[in-house]
Amino acid sequence: MAFGLSDRVKNIAPSPTLSIDTKTKAMIADGLDVINLSVGEPDFGTPDIACAAGKVAIDQQFTKYTAVPGIVELRKKIADQLATKGLRYTADDILVSSGAKHSLYNAFMALCNPGDEVILPAPYWVSYPEMVRLAEAVPVMIPTDESTNFKITPAQLEAAITPKTKVLLLNSPSNPTGSVYTPAELQALADVVRKHEFYVISDEIYDQLVYGVEQISIASLGEDIQRRTIVINGFSKSYSMTGWRVGYLAADRAIVKAMTSFQSHTTANPASISQKAAVAALDHRDEAMVPEFIWRRDYVLNRLSQMPYITCATPTGAFYVFPNCSATFGKTYQNHPVQNCDDFASLLLEHANISLVPGSGFGAPNNFRISYATSRENLAKAMDRLEAFLNELV
Ligand SMILES: Cc1ncc(COP(=O)(O)O)c(C=O)c1O
Repeated sequence: MAFGLSDRVKNIAPSPTLSIDTKTKAMIADGLDVINLSVGEPDFGTPDIACAAGKVAIDQQFTKYTAVPGIVELRKKIADQLATKGLRYTADDILVSSGAKHSLYNAFMALCNPGDEVILPAPYWVSYPEMVRLAEAVPVMIPTDESTNFKITPAQLEAAITPKTKVLLLNSPSNPTGSVYTPAELQALADVVRKHEFYVISDEIYDQLVYGVEQISIASLGEDIQRRTIVINGFSKSYSMTGWRVGYLAADRAIVKAMTSFQSHTTANPASISQKAAVAALDHRDEAMVPEFIWRRDYVLNRLSQMPYITCATPTGAFYVFPNCSATFGKTYQNHPVQNCDDFASLLLEHANISLVPGSGFGAPNNFRISYATSRENLAKAMDRLEAFLNELV
């Protein structure tokens, strides 16, 4: 007889970003004026054209199972979109899933055997290490900091490779740092990858959200690299469609076939209605989003630059800044000690009514993440509160 949960789920750490979001929402529901800078979704609406297509899908009873990897119409359009980034895929090389998170999970489950190593540049998005562990693989972190704009170097990559290395995870633009690898930097990493036998999972979900820099896919650097890369993307961020749950991966056809079989036994197709909405979304980019995010990023960076104890690298993508708060460690706020970034974030939530995410969950204990996917008014209020809090530290 055996009773109780599996070790697999017992060992999962809950997502720190989602738990902070839940705590924040509860405080807001209690009537507290909390400014939420912890969210990972754009504050823009889903494009009307996508909403309309979703409604038509319902009215026309497009409400049944579809092909497991997604409808051909959507996969073809995704392939066309990827072609604009110099990636050569056909509809058969695409697997659409219920969000990019799902695509990533499929990828780790399909590629990793127990004990395989997955190289994760840190800071990393919170879900990567947990997904790697769920696949019974081992995350191998490469630490980075502001000195390289949170990007790994070819020498660091080379040093992390062992005979057990199975996957290198790249996320450009990055959550939580907003860093974007330049084409030359990716080329240098690709040269290291070429010398060894392993895969690259390239999470490009923020690819449309870049500010004055070029975002390229490592897979566009040659057929050999494309063959061993799994490109991940989705509709949540670029099209403000977080709730619709549509993400996808593009990869070598044999890999996609295996992952499609895996998905066929777990979730099957992504929601039919969401797929139709995604087809329509691909025809429409909200042109207002990028200039607005640039304005907000610059505003936040400018305000932070005038505050004590805080330093901040300039991100060039996504909608996050990732300031360093280590100069506050050892200080106190109204007799409460600030010993680490978790104390820093908790004190800000409880005493300054600002919700942001401590860097510990991202493998960056000196930092915290601010999402600027909120209104200019909220950002101004939050920066005033943060400044007042910092001025009170002794
Ligand atoms: C880096 C990164 N990858 C993937 C995802 C997952 O996005 P989706 O909503 O498509 O599952 C997120 C969402 O926060 C993310 O930040």
